[in-house]
Amino acid sequence: MSDISVLLAHAEQAEAEIKKLEEEIATLQDPQKLLAEGVVSPALEALQNENAKLKYQINTLKKSVAAEKSRKPDYMMSISTIVADVFGLAIRKAFPGIENPLTMIQGSSKFADYQCNSAMSIAKILKEMGQGASPREIADKIVQNLPQNEYFEKVEVQGPGFINIFLNKAFVSDQISELLTRGVKPPRVGVRRRAVVDFSSPNIAKEMHVGHLRSTIIGESVCRLLEWVGHDVLRINHVGDWGTQFGMLIAHLKDQFPNYNVVSPPIQDLQAFYKESKARFDADEAFKKRAYEAVVKLQSYDKDHINAWKLICDVSRKEFQSIYDRLGVTLIERGESFYQEMMKDVVRLIDEKGKLEEEEGRKIMYVKGLSVPLTIVKSDGGFTYDTSDLAAIKQRLHDEKGTWLIYVVDSGQGSHLQTVYAAAKELGWYNSKLTRVEHVAFGVVLGEDGKKFKTRSGETVRLVDLLDEGISRAEQKLIEKGRDKELTKEEMEAVKKAVAYGCIKYADLSHNRNHDYVFSFDKMLDDRGNTAAYLLYAYTRIRSIARNSNVSQEDLQKSASSTKIALEHPKELKLAKCLLRLPEVILRCLDDLLLHTLCEYLYELSNTFTEFYDNCYCIEKDKATGAIVKVNMSRLLLCEATANVIATGFNILGINPVQKM
Ligand code: ARG
Repeated sequence: MSDISVLLAHAEQAEAEIKKLEEEIATLQDPQKLLAEGVVSPALEALQNENAKLKYQINTLKKSVAAEKSRKPDYMMSISTIVADVFGLAIRKAFPGIENPLTMIQGSSKFADYQCNSAMSIAKILKEMGQGASPREIADKIVQNLPQNEYFEKVEVQGPGFINIFLNKAFVSDQISELLTRGVKPPRVGVRRRAVVDFSSPNIAKEMHVGHLRSTIIGESVCRLLEWVGHDVLRINHVGDWGTQFGMLIAHLKDQFPNYNVVSPPIQDLQAFYKESKARFDADEAFKKRAYEAVVKLQSYDKDHINAWKLICDVSRKEFQSIYDRLGVTLIERGESFYQEMMKDVVRLIDEKGKLEEEEGRKIMYVKGLSVPLTIVKSDGGFTYDTSDLAAIKQRLHDEKGTWLIYVVDSGQGSHLQTVYAAAKELGWYNSKLTRVEHVAFGVVLGEDGKKFKTRSGETVRLVDLLDEGISRAEQKLIEKGRDKELTKEEMEAVKKAVAYGCIKYADLSHNRNHDYVFSFDKMLDDRGNTAAYLLYAYTRIRSIARNSNVSQEDLQKSASSTKIALEHPKELKLAKCLLRLPEVILRCLDDLLLHTLCEYLYELSNTFTEFYDNCYCIEKDKATGAIVKVNMSRLLLCEATANVIATGFNILGINPVQKM
């Protein structure tokens, strides 16, 4: 139950108590009168005492009700939660015989702001209990039992038993004022979790491809979302830094740069270096043998080999970092190598539980209900991707005390991760009722031809090249629009980046991540439709309204607390209601970690704003002179609230808004 329903229940209870007390007082005899009648003093004193006590009780109760009612939460209220709470109260009151009746609230529709659809399911339950009632009658009964409240203007039963709910204008207006005076606050999430988010996670010396770009973009946004609502987030880059590829890389390094221990090897192109060593590995048996020996030495921490490994990792790390810097992504590197020692423990623990089996020289673990086992130790004694993920999940649960583990990894790795999660549960490392462990999966990036995203010559697209192309395409667009003549050089630089990176991120985030998505610069840079380009333009335009009205930011802030938000025009009311949906959108994103819902909301908000702006004057100018003759402060504040909500959304999506564009 949220605060609101607690409050309502409390208020109802307290008011009933007050009534009872007042009735009690009325039955008491008036002491003054008794005195006049000459009643003896002990009885009088007792009465006086009783009277005072009751009055005192009434006062404290009245005060606490008033205090509850005026208490300002430090979060933004989710209207759909309020609706659900109030209806939940009514349903329980109307049907006390039903245990945990479902409160089904649907968001805004064509017909109403919210809808309650519980009557149908209650009808079914009642029928099973042998009590027949039509959904329509049930809906009527729910409405009759609604507690007195300030939220609804109108509640009407429609059709077979839907309840249409319309918000009270004064309540909406008050909420907008709150939003303006206190800023855009996150909704309340209840339990604060320690979240460990595994994202980006490229492999050292191999190219960071578009799949990793998706993980990086989605992972960063998921972290920002969680952080904003108050969860404690640990961002982990689970880089592939311990695989067998290091054998050949180190062997090759030794040949190419024999004095690597003294002089840092000038590896310019690590991918080319990787390709060279791979070619040798495939063609040269002697080299292959040396590569294998190098892995063994590396994994037993031979100083020389660790040194070579570090050098190679450093080259990769610098490349990754430059991408993260450009995209504004932060995370800590904790690669597979981190778990080397813990992997030994994992083998022991599985063995102790009697779950380690031998099959053709390999040590494996079968997980209940799954047909493919995990390979814990290879026949050559080495560990695998399964082993490191088991060690990692254990470390995240037990050392990091994670209560919400998130893996932002392509959907191709779904069964690997599900097996790891199931194994960890079976080994008793966590209880899924208390700890959320989930795979935030995503589809493949496709080219405009619908095939896997590749360069013209069929190579994997390098991320740096992709970002560079984004920048130059964004620049072209801005020049086409003549923006280079309006903006200073610095402004142009900032806008270029905001547009390019914003568009790349938004294109990814605005699609349901479970689906494959087509990468198209033309589409993402189009400023019509659901794109970052469109939203960024909309945002700067809204910000410029206040700027052009000559109202300073301070005056705007001052007016926020003194100006009542008038919602006379239907488009004003529509915009205000749309603004208040932010908390429920955020709560939904937290539930399914699908960020396209937030993108769709921002797009809808921008469109709703445009409708409002086309219909409602914010500033009136003198036609002849162009001078401002009237400023509609309430509307200007609606603009401000819209811009603030969009900026909040941008921040979660990792998009940098620009003031001028
Ligand atoms: N390095 C892996 C890859 O490129 C992704 C790692 C994902 N995280 C994990 N804990 N398995 O495919």
